[in-house]
Amino acid sequence: MIAVAIDGPAGAGKSTIAKKASEELGYIYVDTGAIYRSVALACIEKGISIEDKESVEKLLPTLDIRIIFFNGEQHILLNDKDVSEKIREENVSMAASSVSAIPEVRNYLLDLQRDFAKRDNVIMDGRDIGTVVLPNAQVKIFLTASPEVRARRRVLQLEEKGMEADFDKILFDIVQRDYNDSNRKTAPLKPAENAVVVDTTELGLDEVIEKIVGIIKEQTT
Ligand code: DC
Repeated sequence: MIAVAIDGPAGAGKSTIAKKASEELGYIYVDTGAIYRSVALACIEKGISIEDKESVEKLLPTLDIRIIFFNGEQHILLNDKDVSEKIREENVSMAASSVSAIPEVRNYLLDLQRDFAKRDNVIMDGRDIGTVVLPNAQVKIFLTASPEVRARRRVLQLEEKGMEADFDKILFDIVQRDYNDSNRKTAPLKPAENAVVVDTTELGLDEVIEKIVGIIKEQTT
């Protein structure tokens, strides 16, 4: 099996790029952020405070989180309910960042993530895929871009969906999430030692995809 790890901060374009690259290469794409987001959503829906680590921990075995592929699209099911859209809301983003700092949550989700790579060739994106989840991945990429560019891309994404977007608030949240994700004790966001770092600040989407697919082909043949 071939495993490609793509890590990087919020809004670096990991999911768009990983999805396109996996289509081109015929790999399964696994968005691990969606798994953390589902845990966060479950906490919100059950009224569990993320500060209350004991209750969050107790909630974990009651959650059935599944990723299915339907018409080529990844859908995430939380206890049989399709939550693919709901987990993208901004309050869930921040809650996911907080919930992902709890070591027991990270530990609990490890096997779920690793199982994907046992069954198929995968491109998996997240924060700690190259460092912790799949340390033996054949290809490791760390995708990054300046916070301002990431915030601007997010604004465009929301506007395309007809949603309101406040650049300053989005930038503030991105900086906050970068800080949380990079400074937590367990599995912080950082490039794996042997990762190829790709800064997309000055690059267009097609250029980045071409570059990433090129790196993957080069390192797997
Ligand atoms: O990639 P994303 O924005 O959907 O991820 C949501 C949050 O989940 C992010 O702030 C950090 C956390 N996360 C993580 O800690 N480890 C991963 N492998 C993926 C996501």
